[in-house]
Amino acid sequence: MNALRFFARTASAGLVIGTLAACGGGAGAGDLEGDTTDPMTVFDEAVDRFERAPLSHLPTPFEEMPTLAAELGGPRLFIKRDDQTGLAFGGNKARKLDFILADAVAKGSDSVITWAGVQSNWARMTAAGSRRLGMDPILVLQRREDQEVAPADGNLLLDRILGADVRIIEPGGDREAAVADIAAAERESGRTPYVVSVGGSLTGGGMVLPLGSVAYANGFREMLEQARSAGVTITHVIHASGSGSTQAGLVVGAKSIAPDVEIIGISSGGNKAAGEANVLAIARETVEAMGLDVEVGPDDVVVHDEYVGEGYGILNQGVVEAIAQVARTEGILLDPVYTGKAMTGLIDLVKNGHFSETDAVVFLHTGGTPALFPYREGLLEDLPRPTDE
Ligand SMILES: Cc1ncc(COP(=O)(O)O)c(C=O)c1O
Repeated sequence: MNALRFFARTASAGLVIGTLAACGGGAGAGDLEGDTTDPMTVFDEAVDRFERAPLSHLPTPFEEMPTLAAELGGPRLFIKRDDQTGLAFGGNKARKLDFILADAVAKGSDSVITWAGVQSNWARMTAAGSRRLGMDPILVLQRREDQEVAPADGNLLLDRILGADVRIIEPGGDREAAVADIAAAERESGRTPYVVSVGGSLTGGGMVLPLGSVAYANGFREMLEQARSAGVTITHVIHASGSGSTQAGLVVGAKSIAPDVEIIGISSGGNKAAGEANVLAIARETVEAMGLDVEVGPDDVVVHDEYVGEGYGILNQGVVEAIAQVARTEGILLDPVYTGKAMTGLIDLVKNGHFSETDAVVFLHTGGTPALFPYREGLLEDLPRPTDE
């Protein structure tokens, strides 16, 4: 048994921190309790030094995708359902926010300021998590050239329902200055703002340690434990990579407790070199913050950028086909910006013989499904109609 710190809201709406006995020991950890050389024990102790707010519903399901695997004809395929974390429709940000917003509360914050694009999953979930812990979310959302004047749809609609203070920045506008001005105004009015970077990935502002990445190192551990109890030896984990802390955390988790597992990031927009450098830097910072005795090098970080297409958030036919194929074979919905793109990578790597038939490949579903709705037109254009089949 390990102790999981938790926050609870008191009747007077204050926050108290307590401890909850949680069965998180996992594969063999119970037997090895106190064994300071067992990698799993060392890892758990490193994670337990960080405070967490129980925003996400964990563990998320770990399931097989047999019909998709049979149709593609390659390795066994599994899916880790981090689209099912809860917190206003779920997604990978919930795990990160457990750690990040616990830090914000510990620092006495009244508001949480972050920035992102107008259809940001991160912004929506930051708004939900902040509300849940009694802080006011302020979202600085920058519109892209090719986006319409932000209609209240998808994530933006949810931001509004959550009562977030949404500030739209036009393309080319100075987002950094806007965030600094809002934080200064908050301080002038006697409040304590917590500024956190897009995706909860880069340290700076209120977040001094790479908490988003620490959260995903722990997410890797959760997945490994589930796979082991199902008798599955994971060989690869593949997922959408953007601001970098999901991949950095997975890499640190794998290096620490299952070094043979290959982590494959599929870029949602940026190029390979920049993505890999960013993930590597966050991963190294995470190793240091957690006090782990592992070394992460360039060979541990793989980001593919050949599935980006025309750019971040721009739909293409391959993405629509991948979304349709997973929906038709497994009844699982992917999103048009991240997981649909990552799935085009998985499908292509299977077809190109990247994996052997004895491999066990996990697709990490990072969420993002509220964005299906604002993409309705592009989706409907390329979705196979019943008469096409
Ligand atoms: C649905 C979804 N998947 C994947 C990612 C990428 O995660 P990260 O930013 O940690 O690389 C994001 C980030 O915005 C996301 O919203």
